[in-house]
Amino acid sequence: AYVVAEPCIKCKYTDCVEVCPVNCFYEGANFLVIHPDECIDCGACEPVCPTKAIFPETELPSEWSEYKKLNTDYSSKWPNIAEKKAALPEAEEYKDKKGKRAELST
Ligand code: SF4
Ligand code: F3S
Repeated sequence: AYVVAEPCIKCKYTDCVEVCPVNCFYEGANFLVIHPDECIDCGACEPVCPTKAIFPETELPSEWSEYKKLNTDYSSKWPNIAEKKAALPEAEEYKDKKGKRAELST
């Protein structure tokens, strides 16, 4: 499955949602996750994310390895999101920031 990693935090552009053929994204306050059992590995979401937050599980950077579990855990807790919406107001400011893990709202 594909995994959403740290760059999505405080941005949530949701371009990924628009292209996913199986609607397997789930929405938190400032982050999205992918349900690993629903993702069909089509790869459509990866190139459209403005923050480059999405990776195939096998190519997830080691610094973000915990995001595999975060996607698994929160995809069964958060509501599904099936349509693109406006990015967060602070998205442009946070787009290229590193070290956003502590800002993740659960
Ligand atoms: Fe959806 Fe395809 Fe991305 Fe999986 S890889 S989350 S199926 S767009
Ligand atoms: Fe997040 Fe990128 Fe989707 S910022 S909401 S993973 S388009």
